[in-house]
Amino acid sequence: MSPPDEGGGLQERQGRSGGAVSIDRWQDEPDLGEVVVPEDVLHKRVAELGDELTADYDGRPPLLVGVLKGAFVFMSDLARAIRLPVEVDVMAVASYGSATATSGVVRIVKDLDSDLTDRHVLVVEDIVDSGLTLSYLRRNLLARQPASLEVCALLVKEGRQRARLDLRYVGFHIPPDFVVGYGLDVAERYRNVPDIRVYRGPVTVD
Ligand code: IMP
Ligand code: MG
Repeated sequence: MSPPDEGGGLQERQGRSGGAVSIDRWQDEPDLGEVVVPEDVLHKRVAELGDELTADYDGRPPLLVGVLKGAFVFMSDLARAIRLPVEVDVMAVASYGSATATSGVVRIVKDLDSDLTDRHVLVVEDIVDSGLTLSYLRRNLLARQPASLEVCALLVKEGRQRARLDLRYVGFHIPPDFVVGYGLDVAERYRNVPDIRVYRGPVTVD
C-alpha cells in the first residue's frame, strides 16, 4: 500500500474529477447564476490554508470552532487539510432568517460543548458580509478567556463590512452578490452545490 500523499496526488485526483469530463448538474437550476469560485479553485485554496495553518499552529493544535450551518462543508475540508491533531466544535448563530440581507441581530442558537479557557481557538466561518455576526462572535468568545482567537473565513464580500474586523485567514474576496453553495444556502437550499454561485432567485423574507 502506498502512503497517503498530499499536494500533487490530491490535485491530480481533483483534476480528473473536476476537469473537462465533469457534468455541471446545476446548470439548469433557474435560480442559480454564474460560478464565482469553481470547485477546483476552492479545493486548491483550502489546501493552501491548511498548509498555512499547519505551520502557524505547529506545537499548539487549535480548537476549530465552526459556525453552523454554513461552515460545515468548509470546516470538513479545512480540518482534513491541517496536519495537526485539531479538535472540532460547532456553534450555531442566527442572523438572517431566510432573507438575503442581514438583520443585524445575532442570536446563539447552539452553544459550544468545549471550555475555551487557555485554548487556541480558530473560528471557521463561511462568509463575512456586514461583519456583524463575526464581531459579535469575537466579543462573545474572547470573554471565555482563550489563549488566542483567530478567524478563518472562506469568503469575504468586498466593501460590505460595517465593523472593523481582524481576519487573519481569508479564502477569497468576492463581489457583494448573494452567493450559495459549498455550505452556503438560501432558505436552507443549495448547501450541497459543490462550488460557489450567484443566487438569482426570489428573495423570501420571514
Ligand atoms: P454578516 O453578519 O452580515 O457578516 O453575515 C454573516 C452570515 O450571513 C454568514 O455567516 C452567512 O450565514 C450569511 N450570509 C451572508 N452573505 C451570504 C451569502 O451571500 N449567501 C449565503 N449566506 C450569506
Ligand atoms: Mg455563517
